[in-house]
Amino acid sequence: MDDLKIVAAEVRACKLCGLAPTRKNAVPGEGPENAEVMLIGEGPGFNEDQQGRPFVGPSGQFLTELLASAGFKRSEVFIANVVKCRPPSNRDPQPDEISACRAYLDRQIALINPKIIITLGRFSMARWFPNERISAIHGRAKNTEGRIVVAMYHPAAALHNPALRQPLEEDFKRLREILADAQKKAAPPASKKPANTEPEEKSGGAEQLSLF
Ligand code: URA
Ligand code: SF4
Repeated sequence: MDDLKIVAAEVRACKLCGLAPTRKNAVPGEGPENAEVMLIGEGPGFNEDQQGRPFVGPSGQFLTELLASAGFKRSEVFIANVVKCRPPSNRDPQPDEISACRAYLDRQIALINPKIIITLGRFSMARWFPNERISAIHGRAKNTEGRIVVAMYHPAAALHNPALRQPLEEDFKRLREILADAQKKAAPPASKKPANTEPEEKSGGAEQLSLF
């Protein structure tokens, strides 16, 4: 049986793509196997490569604050990346590197089976929202493959561009609501009404939380 420790051990020893020779530490990701929320970033930066842990530099600090503002401890969510090794000089991960690394992320998603996936930045967004613009769809919940996926700005982007800070903070503040909505949908119908006869519900008052 596969488990997260096996995935992590394989990642740490992986030489499947050109990022292997220049990394100090591969960064498999971390968090509990039963996490309801999974966050997927781009790839390790300098600090992550040094420590072998995801989001431990300035954008990690900001991410921890964003989670706290939504009432989540960092330790209760699973944090991963599209590529597990640092691209040299923090360049963008290349398509061949993303596809070489994809099976690790797929296994993590299958094992954790989160209720919500939050994509941080355009590389993880591209997988569930191809050809979409982050400015148009950030914060919106998409129901796909039996779970909810929400695209959000990358915390590092918001640190560099103050105009993105408020939308990112607002998207995180709606996370509880999105999760409650996902749990409601996953639960057996509470009333005598047959399931699946009602249109997709919008959460009370949250305009931007339209499910599509
Ligand atoms: N940025 C990312 O996308 N991932 C990390 O782990 C750290 C910074
Ligand atoms: Fe292996 Fe992924 Fe690291 Fe490439 S980025 S060497 S595929 S773990």
